[in-house]
Amino acid sequence: MGDQGGDGGAASFDSLVGLLDYPMFVVTTMADGHRSGCLVGFTSQTSINPPRFLVGLSRRNHTFAVAQDAEYLAVHLLPREELALAELFGEKTGDTEDKFAECAWHSGPQGMPILDAAPAWFVGHVIDRFDLGDHVGHLIEPVAGNAPDELGDLITFSDVRDLEPGHNA
Ligand SMILES: Cc1cc2nc3c(=O)[nH]c(=O)nc-3n(C[C@H](O)[C@H](O)[C@H](O)COP(=O)(O)O)c2cc1C
Repeated sequence: MGDQGGDGGAASFDSLVGLLDYPMFVVTTMADGHRSGCLVGFTSQTSINPPRFLVGLSRRNHTFAVAQDAEYLAVHLLPREELALAELFGEKTGDTEDKFAECAWHSGPQGMPILDAAPAWFVGHVIDRFDLGDHVGHLIEPVAGNAPDELGDLITFSDVRDLEPGHNA
């Protein structure tokens, strides 16, 4: 039986969002020569013209701390076969580990770290930040990127929901 109201709103919302499935991304950034990145599910395109995309970063994440001083974020789509990359960026924290020592990457537009295993990615200029609750929304305007004509299946929430996040939100 579903919950009909009362104080079960949060619980039923929890159950409801557990039924959703959506693409996962690795979001990287750099500020003051320091690189960071994490697995992110809280995203959305928010506008076509002008192009805009929102990235929700948890206040607890190392990536959030670095992003506070960053002008750009890089958003990577994750092909289904790159589950190990999703685990690396979703389960380890830059507080204690250098994730970039454990994967192939190169310096891309605006000095953003671009993951070699991700064929589709874009770099966005952070044009606004919003309090979203335990996450902070970073509104970005794409300035560069790469999108192949075709891409196979992507990693979605249902593929990674059982990972142990480096930080709980
Ligand atoms: C399924 C799943 C979804 C996640 N979604 C987000 C998200 O939307 N935003 C975020 O900041 N962290 C999210 N995380 C958590 C971070 O990826 C994780 O805590 C990571 O270890 C943080 O690394 P950092 O401390 O180096 O930034 C998610 C983790 C998992 C497993």
